[in-house]
Amino acid sequence: MKKLFIKTYGCQMNVYDSARMAELLAPIGYGPTDAPEDADMIVLNTCHIREKAAEKMYSELGRMKELKDARGTTIAVAGCVAQAEGEEIIARAPQVDIVVGPQSYHRLPEMIARVARSGGHALETDFPELEKFDVLPQDTSRGSSSEFLTVQEGCDKFCTFCVVPYTRGSEFSRPVAQIESEARRLVARGACEITLLGQNVNAYRGEGPDGSAWSLARLLHRLATIDGLERLRYTTSHPRDMADDLIAAHGDLAQLMPYLHLPVQSGSDAVLDAMNRGHTADAYRRLVERIRKARPDIALSSDFIVGFPGESDKDFEATLSLVRDVGFAQSYSFKYSKRPGTPAAAARKQVSEETKAARLQVLQTLLLEQRLAFDESCKGRTMDVLFEKPGRRPGQATGRSPYQQPVHADGAQSLIGTVQRVRIDAIFPNSLKGTLVPARQEAVPL
Ligand code: SAH
Ligand code: SF4
Ligand code: F3S
Repeated sequence: MKKLFIKTYGCQMNVYDSARMAELLAPIGYGPTDAPEDADMIVLNTCHIREKAAEKMYSELGRMKELKDARGTTIAVAGCVAQAEGEEIIARAPQVDIVVGPQSYHRLPEMIARVARSGGHALETDFPELEKFDVLPQDTSRGSSSEFLTVQEGCDKFCTFCVVPYTRGSEFSRPVAQIESEARRLVARGACEITLLGQNVNAYRGEGPDGSAWSLARLLHRLATIDGLERLRYTTSHPRDMADDLIAAHGDLAQLMPYLHLPVQSGSDAVLDAMNRGHTADAYRRLVERIRKARPDIALSSDFIVGFPGESDKDFEATLSLVRDVGFAQSYSFKYSKRPGTPAAAARKQVSEETKAARLQVLQTLLLEQRLAFDESCKGRTMDVLFEKPGRRPGQATGRSPYQQPVHADGAQSLIGTVQRVRIDAIFPNSLKGTLVPARQEAVPL
């Protein structure tokens, strides 16, 4: 059997795509390896979101060249850099044999054969109406207890800083029946948690079994009827697409976890407008209030960009003030990165690197305080934990709380793949420790 090494950068959609590529290549004789030096084929599944992400790929390709020279390894670049840069990649790094975009990778087996025949390069970067979803193999081997499932791809929002509408194309939603059968397959393979993925997952409008367009809320209700599927999540959602039925689903569906990633990017109306986000800071505050009303224990997370062109000290203060008002359990924050071809990259009033770095530090300090305060508030609480893997210490298992916090507890390995009640006893910087609480016995009438 030939060996395949896949390295994944970027978002969860790339994680999903990497798993699909591995499944696609299995029937033509490729099995996975964790060691690039043993691989016959290396796939770099790349991300173009910030400059650093794209640079990482080129430095990795430098290292891969030695392997190619020594062993003749086939090298493929997939994902969003492949889509954005296409042939430029081969010009800059001729050791690359294959360049394949995120909507074309179902053609990989044929491309590998073509390269083997001709000894040349192969490049595919069109958007063939997401036919990649039509060729999903029926793998029945045991999978993990938590899986990703892409339900929507692409983006029509065109935030002025972002490459995604260019690398992933326009919005497309998979039909409900196709998603449901994939979810059933994942549950049959051992998944008890599924995270629905999309660049704008809450803009989901997929064809339902009745022929009408279903919302994400309706899809979630349908998936919640699958036996054994204990947890549902979705990411990434846009504040503009938080429809009433979706907010209500957070109160109605026990399987829908009380954790929502709802990126706001900035707390300044001027910056939000220049970013083309389509809502104000107060509209976000009000939205959060409505979501908390439907599900009072919901924890929120967000993405932030500091140093967007034109961002003043006052604008940045407005972001800090929004963060203080809302309170986030978890967050991701980035310095604005100029991306080729996006409108903001051409803006005249760019913010200096020093200012970006200083603002990022202030924001991250505040966000860290909020995360630690949230973790601290969990001490003494009993919550459901989905155990996923052995812990670092012998006799321990590690899982995730409803709020995505890693939780360690003493307990048998047989816990893995199950949801258990756990009392949280201690808080560490990046995880929680707890004790299993025995399942409540049914009261026996005397
Ligand atoms: N669809 C999601 C975001 C996907 S990109 C949404 O609308 O929120 C993930 C995150 O990367 C974004 O939320 C943003 O915070 C960050 N990001 C995107 N482009 C960026 C850029 N040019 N510079 C810095 N951060 C960026
Ligand atoms: Fe990018 Fe905006 Fe689309 Fe999110 S909504 S993927 S940030 S363009
Ligand atoms: Fe990166 Fe593409 Fe995801 S640019 S964040 S891998 S959609």
